[in-house]
Amino acid sequence: MRKLKVLSLFCGCGGMDLGMLGGFEYLGHPYPEHPFEIVKAYDNDPYCTKIYDENFSHKCDVADVREIEISNLPDIDILIGGFPCQSFSISAQNPPRLGYKDERGMLFFEMVKILKEKQPRFFIAENVKGLLSANKGQAFPMIIKEFEGAGYHVKFKLLNASEYGVPQKRERVIIVGCRESKDFENYRFPAPTTRFNKVPLSKVINPEDNLNERLFFSERAVAGMLLVRDKMNKGRVQNLDEPCNTISSHLAKVSLNSTDPVLLFENRYRRFSSTECARIQSFPEDFKWGSVSEAKQLKAIGNAVPPVMMWHIAKSLSEILNAKEKPHVDHVSTDFDWPQERMVQLTLFEPEILYITSLNREKLLLGSCRQGTIEWIKNNQLYNYPITDQELQDHPELLDVKKIIILHKNKMVGFYNVLDVDVVLKPELIGYGYPIKSSKRSMESKYILFTLSPEPQLDKDIPWYTFSPIIGKGLISPSNA
Ligand SMILES: C[S@@+](CC[C@H](N)C(=O)[O-])C[C@H]1O[C@@H](n2cnc3c(N)ncnc32)[C@H](O)[C@@H]1O
Repeated sequence: MRKLKVLSLFCGCGGMDLGMLGGFEYLGHPYPEHPFEIVKAYDNDPYCTKIYDENFSHKCDVADVREIEISNLPDIDILIGGFPCQSFSISAQNPPRLGYKDERGMLFFEMVKILKEKQPRFFIAENVKGLLSANKGQAFPMIIKEFEGAGYHVKFKLLNASEYGVPQKRERVIIVGCRESKDFENYRFPAPTTRFNKVPLSKVINPEDNLNERLFFSERAVAGMLLVRDKMNKGRVQNLDEPCNTISSHLAKVSLNSTDPVLLFENRYRRFSSTECARIQSFPEDFKWGSVSEAKQLKAIGNAVPPVMMWHIAKSLSEILNAKEKPHVDHVSTDFDWPQERMVQLTLFEPEILYITSLNREKLLLGSCRQGTIEWIKNNQLYNYPITDQELQDHPELLDVKKIIILHKNKMVGFYNVLDVDVVLKPELIGYGYPIKSSKRSMESKYILFTLSPEPQLDKDIPWYTFSPIIGKGLISPSNA
């Protein structure tokens, strides 16, 4: 099989690129090679690129991406890059659009420029969670629009590295673009592999580092931190039984007076060693770091995309290369009234409650929606419902739903297969263009989000009395009953 050619922008020390290529081992698990090869990689930092060059047989160019002569680039199949996004300016035009004023925000346009000119089959962009809410939530939809304007069908998802075998709760927005609509229909984000069995931090702690005096904070720093800790939630001591909080490029300057994750060992506080940081980011043990100072290593490590998480993303892309063509299915018509004698009496269902039943032993959910969201559900093939942590704990079956019926009043909006179930925060939902009705719910509110694909028809009789109401208005959660 021909390997697809990849161009990597902002490659750093190569976390994203290693995941893309595969062919490494982490915590005893093999991560096999993917059918991809990197034909060009760019970063303008002379230190992280040294690390990069030591670890790959191809070499990267130390260059500013704004200076790339696009017409001299080789042909590529995939463009990847975690574009820096410290700020985005929005022009006060009608309609408003992304501005070009700030240098760093502008770097995203370099990806768009290359896409427009080279038209690779795919692209993958990575960014911090904050991108979803940047500029009060206005920037992200515009970014997606720019990618679409370059000729791509675009999907995005907030992934948590800890759900993919990485001992870190690092959340990153992954944007995948496909030039061909057939690829877009076939593409699915990778299903979590460790949502319920996360790798704890203890797995990557180096016992020798507990004896390294250099890593411990001075008594003065500890006394200063303890004075203000209650007020300021500082001194973020990590629980060894859970994945670590997110580490950042700030690692070299970790202090007790910030929110950086630290360890408590025998009542003394210490920072992580560079070996531990590389493991927390899921770099394999044989990745070479020694070509630069420890401070430069830490900066590159903190900036990286965890190779193991990226490996899963690359795998999900490689899977569509082998995907068989699926028959195209049109949406189920909204005008369709269910024959009374065959099925449930739809008016028996309360609109603000979720019901569950089993269909051929698969969980089938029945939910409703308001008029204003019907188009959104159909266009995005997503269905959401606000949910609390308690409700999720009480109803794990929600994560195992395989089919959904969505109603509006006594009309069927659609009968769908569920491709993926996720829990997202409000800003992510806004990022999907969801028409939020009230501002009552905070940005921290959670929603269960189902990714759907339409089924041609519902050909089973499902008696109404098999549906049990599980969550919704007026229902008491089992743990409160
Ligand atoms: C978040 S890091 C990328 C990390 C990388 N994807 C990885 O997984 O290791 C962003 C990178 O963009 C690079 N960068 C910032 N501005 C740049 C520019 N104008 N041209 C080239 N690289 C740039 C930085 O040096 C940094 O390494």
